[in-house]
Amino acid sequence: MLTHNTLGVPCEVADRVIFENDDDVKRALATDDRLLILGGCSNVVLPECLNQRVGQIAMRGISAIEVGDDVVVTAAAGESWHGLVRYTLGKGWAGLENLALIPGQVGAAPIQNIGAYGVELARRTEAVRVFDRTRAIERVLSPEECEFSYRSSVFRSHPDRYVVLDLSLRLTCSSQPVLEYPDVQTELSRLGWSQPTPSQVAEVIIRIRRRKLPDYRTWGNVGSFFKNPVVTQAAAEALKQAHPKLVMHAHGAAVKLAAAQLIDLCGWKGRREGAVSVWRRQPLVLVNLGGASARDFLRLGDTIRRSVAERFQVSLEMEPTVVSANGA
Ligand code: EPU
Repeated sequence: MLTHNTLGVPCEVADRVIFENDDDVKRALATDDRLLILGGCSNVVLPECLNQRVGQIAMRGISAIEVGDDVVVTAAAGESWHGLVRYTLGKGWAGLENLALIPGQVGAAPIQNIGAYGVELARRTEAVRVFDRTRAIERVLSPEECEFSYRSSVFRSHPDRYVVLDLSLRLTCSSQPVLEYPDVQTELSRLGWSQPTPSQVAEVIIRIRRRKLPDYRTWGNVGSFFKNPVVTQAAAEALKQAHPKLVMHAHGAAVKLAAAQLIDLCGWKGRREGAVSVWRRQPLVLVNLGGASARDFLRLGDTIRRSVAERFQVSLEMEPTVVSANGA
């Protein structure tokens, strides 16, 4: 059977089990500790043939409780992320509007600490309920225990340990909107919305994303194929001397560069190799032109990494998780 993935590459899976509730997960893991857990497959590069048994997360359900002026919303790992964003906005709860239209399931959101337009999931997370495979128990992890950082978390640093069961987020009816990003400002003034509601902010984000990012249903992709590289102050200063126009943002004691700009300056925008192309409006994204395999994506990704390293001495890290044929 073929497994769906937003990259649109064929992935033959010999054995798959669908998890409709938490007990399904626990029972399956009790008898198979090598089981590979997959969600919406929007941030993975899958092999052509997966010889490992796959467990597909499909638990559903959203609930909410009021906590003072806030509301804590809990969504099962198999819910659609954008569906959850829409649901909360429909209820008048603010906090997720900047994270609208990100593909994938709720359970994947904490794994790479999804972030866009100035908001990271970490900022809204109240708790993550998981099944801890090492200790064979259910646990509720606090945001600190999740060890969130830029596009990473304890779930990414210990990929075989936790299965996310549900995610609790703290939202409000009256939060300060996050509108600093230049793209957001431009779109707001174009629409004449000076004091947008959370739903209007989501509308702005949706418009920007639709304009810049390819729809995976037409052009298979996993969003950003690379993370924005983080370099030391000293390395950033040396780079600034040589390339004064490089975009740089403070990142704790370090400096974050724009991978899109580095790739763009190497001349990759719109370039094609076989059935994979660098998206012309956002060179961080690689797209399937039809019939590409995981290997084609990895090959082009590697060529881009080498060209950026050669020109800027900066090492790009891949953003999606690469799964090998044995499920590792
Ligand atoms: N740039 C160029 N050429 C381009 C495009 C961008 O030089 O063709 C430069 C611009 O100077 C721009 C900078 O790159 O200022 C950064 O670009 P952008 O603001 O589009 O954001 P990004 O860093 O490329 C990140 C996330 C996106 C998220 C956006 C908006 C990562 C790896 N990517 O992209 O997340 O939507 O910010 O917040 O952090 C994803 O993770 O899949 C994803 C799409």
